[in-house]
Amino acid sequence: MEKKYYIETYGCQMNVHDSEKISGILSQLGYAPSGDEYGADLVLLNTCSVREKAAQKIFTRLGQLKKLKTGKPGMAIGVCGCLAQQEKDLFFKGRPYVDMVFGPKNISDLPALLEELQRERKQLLALSGPRQEPTFEVETVLRDARFKAYITIMEGCDKFCTFCVVPFLRGREISRDPHSILEEARRLAGAGYVEICLLGQNVNSYRFEQFDFADLVISLHEIPGIRRIRYTSPHPTDINPKVMDLYASLPKLCNNLHLPLQAGSNEVLKRMKRDYSSEQYMEKVEYLRERSPDIALSSDIIVGFPGETREDFQRTMDIVRQVEYSGLFSFKYSQRPFTSALKLEDDIPEEEKSQRLSELQEAQRQIQFRLNQKLIGTTQEVLVESHSRKDAEMFMGRTSCNRSVNFSAPGEILGKFVQVQITGAGPNSLIGRL
Ligand code: 5AD
Ligand code: SF4
Repeated sequence: MEKKYYIETYGCQMNVHDSEKISGILSQLGYAPSGDEYGADLVLLNTCSVREKAAQKIFTRLGQLKKLKTGKPGMAIGVCGCLAQQEKDLFFKGRPYVDMVFGPKNISDLPALLEELQRERKQLLALSGPRQEPTFEVETVLRDARFKAYITIMEGCDKFCTFCVVPFLRGREISRDPHSILEEARRLAGAGYVEICLLGQNVNSYRFEQFDFADLVISLHEIPGIRRIRYTSPHPTDINPKVMDLYASLPKLCNNLHLPLQAGSNEVLKRMKRDYSSEQYMEKVEYLRERSPDIALSSDIIVGFPGETREDFQRTMDIVRQVEYSGLFSFKYSQRPFTSALKLEDDIPEEEKSQRLSELQEAQRQIQFRLNQKLIGTTQEVLVESHSRKDAEMFMGRTSCNRSVNFSAPGEILGKFVQVQITGAGPNSLIGRL
């Protein structure tokens, strides 16, 4: 009988794409996807460790899977992704029901792990070191979407921001050979994909010999069939004029940029080791807006970093109001293993962190609402991505600046570019008429 698998993915887009690669490998091994864990012979948790909450969720989830496995002893449970890399064989301690643990760079070891597991029931571990090259090329990738596709262009991070566990788990920066990237993009275009999103932990520090990130985007831009190019996540320091100028010169480069600020106070930025001041950050914002006035900027912000005073937090609020981000991901600081911020006392009380977070989120909600309202009456080109979840006649598409638009349309228009007039707006999405 055909074996079935179920993957649960936590964390960032890198993880989402890693799960697509794992699905590809499993499908080649003859596994079919299962809609949930109950029907699966193999359950994989692709984990995240970037914040404490994300990590805690995994342990709770494993407890639930343990119960399921009691009634289904043949089921295999695997843990992969960043928390796997962090915890190593500690995952097995007191958890005899976990069959395998493998790191983000060990996805291609999966066939061997499964084979070994079939031969002998024992707990298997596969983890690579921080400098080991990941396998960028996977033969079959089972992608979630039919029109937009992720492409990994680099892995790892050399920045070592003091709050961040990523360099310790995903290792040092390694860039993929541009020939291989371009080849994958051409293959995707041939298969009907119209949008690509370049992925990397620190995507714009991409460099392969003399070939840098801007060179790569320019080369990808020439591929016929590819109509939209996005990338995530960049670091403000590596957003140089050569990259910023691309927004005005390359029409396929989408009109949005994720530019993680993290904090508005220079004291806090220094303690975070972010390599820029709020003034330098704002200079880049102004440079971009002068040349590409419609560019939508989004950001990540941490509140309650060690030693963050009320005044420091006000600096964050000032910049958020000044920049007017089209989207914001905001988090309460939590201590992470290996990071150098562990040396600082986590001194902001939990209630104060929550208070700052909700103030920030409320201000952001109003900004988004205002920005979206301004779009009413305009006509936007959207790529139709899905049927709306609530109503089968409704479609959801995205504008170049990554805003989602809901509208109704007769017939099947999935994967098409259509013109939609914006008729209404909320803080998180737009409503329109075809
Ligand atoms: N605590 C809170 N948020 C964090 N992030 C990264 N590390 C931490 C931490 N220790 C946030 C940053 C990063 C995003 C992916 O997660 O804002 O950009
Ligand atoms: Fe989470 Fe970072 Fe790993 Fe992505 S790379 S899954 S954000 S810890």
